Amino acid sequence: MTNLWHGFADMGAVDGREFVVDRGEGCYVWDENGRRYLDGTASLWYANVGYGRDEIARAAAAQLEKLHAYHVFGDFATRPVLDLADRLAALAPVPESKVFLTSGGSDSVDTAAKLARRYFHEIGQPGRTVVLTRTWAYHGMHAYGTALAGIGANRDALGELVAGVEVVQWDSVDALAEAIDRIGADRIAAFFCEPVVGAGGVRFAPDGYLSRARETVRDAGALFVSDEVITGFGRVGEWFASHRFGLDPDLLTFAKGVTSGYLPLGGVLAAPHVAEPFWKQGAGVWWRHGYTYSGHTSACAAGLANLGIIEREGLDTRARTLEAPLADVLEPLLHHPFVSEVRTGAGLLAAVQLDPAAIEADASLPGRAAMACRNEGGVITRALAGGGLQISPPLVITEEQLGELAAGLRAGLDAVA
Ligand SMILES: Cc1ncc(COP(=O)(O)O)c(C=O)c1O
Repeated sequence: MTNLWHGFADMGAVDGREFVVDRGEGCYVWDENGRRYLDGTASLWYANVGYGRDEIARAAAAQLEKLHAYHVFGDFATRPVLDLADRLAALAPVPESKVFLTSGGSDSVDTAAKLARRYFHEIGQPGRTVVLTRTWAYHGMHAYGTALAGIGANRDALGELVAGVEVVQWDSVDALAEAIDRIGADRIAAFFCEPVVGAGGVRFAPDGYLSRARETVRDAGALFVSDEVITGFGRVGEWFASHRFGLDPDLLTFAKGVTSGYLPLGGVLAAPHVAEPFWKQGAGVWWRHGYTYSGHTSACAAGLANLGIIEREGLDTRARTLEAPLADVLEPLLHHPFVSEVRTGAGLLAAVQLDPAAIEADASLPGRAAMACRNEGGVITRALAGGGLQISPPLVITEEQLGELAAGLRAGLDAVA
């Protein structure tokens, strides 16, 4: 029996049956019984540099000993947070971006949604309060992010959390344009967009969708928010998906890969025109927002070490190089009777879609398949919304290990059959 209430879990089924992860090295983790697993998910999409990186542990430990944390409200700062902000500004898809730090992705989404609305208030367009989102979207679990959920089940049974949210079809620019026309362009504050849908099943937008959606939002005078909590820091073969897909987001949310999860951290990159009303000298504008652990000092030290590894080892380029080999090893799974589609296309991010008809006949199939991959195949995966199996290994994975990943998935699928 356990006292821990797990997230996203049926505790009646989990209670007393935890899978207890004990240690990690590279792409592998070990359970408490000493069995090794290839981590096909990089935990929750975050362990970009893999497990067991002493360099990050040492950087964080040195900072914890010197000054574990000091806040950054008002004029307070610490050197690691200033350095990390400079580093992130230099990596940002929009030059001269400003960096607002948080403790994770949900904080970042809340920050971006509030910032968009407050920005329009500052520039004399207070009527812009509506935020658009897409079907299948996952933008974290704070109240704003939950309101922005395109995965219906994540929003259900809670009543209205935040007013002024509209969900549009994830892959249709026409649907986006229609919603803007219907609501009125002068009422739209922002459009939230995962450049590759993550928790909603790893879905790659149709060719041309992202650039056309970006232009449509620009034409409406609203802000384009690229939610890169998953796609940032090398995952899709560039530092950010916005680089890869030629977006110039007004706001960009990040978390996870910024520290590879060694310590929790997130943030928002704000393009210069969005920051400007808040940074004007003599205007006396306060952005009344911030979290106790915004830019936690030791988390920022871990982040700097982590970014150093991604850069030195070229893990963004590596994810790009391994994109085709990943597609090649997963492709044969298409012939498996339970598999209807394999989605690949940008970096080390993919999904093996289980057949909707088989899921219709047995709703427990995706969960059982993920469990069988772990138990029978020694590979960790996870059932995403819609019944796709998540593939997002650490970016340090080798081609040989990609083969091992595919073999483990097949063994699991065979066992569940
Ligand atoms: C696209 C996206 N946005 C936001 C979040 C929320 O991040 P966190 O769980 O760190 O709050 C996630 C988490 O998976 C995500 O995938």
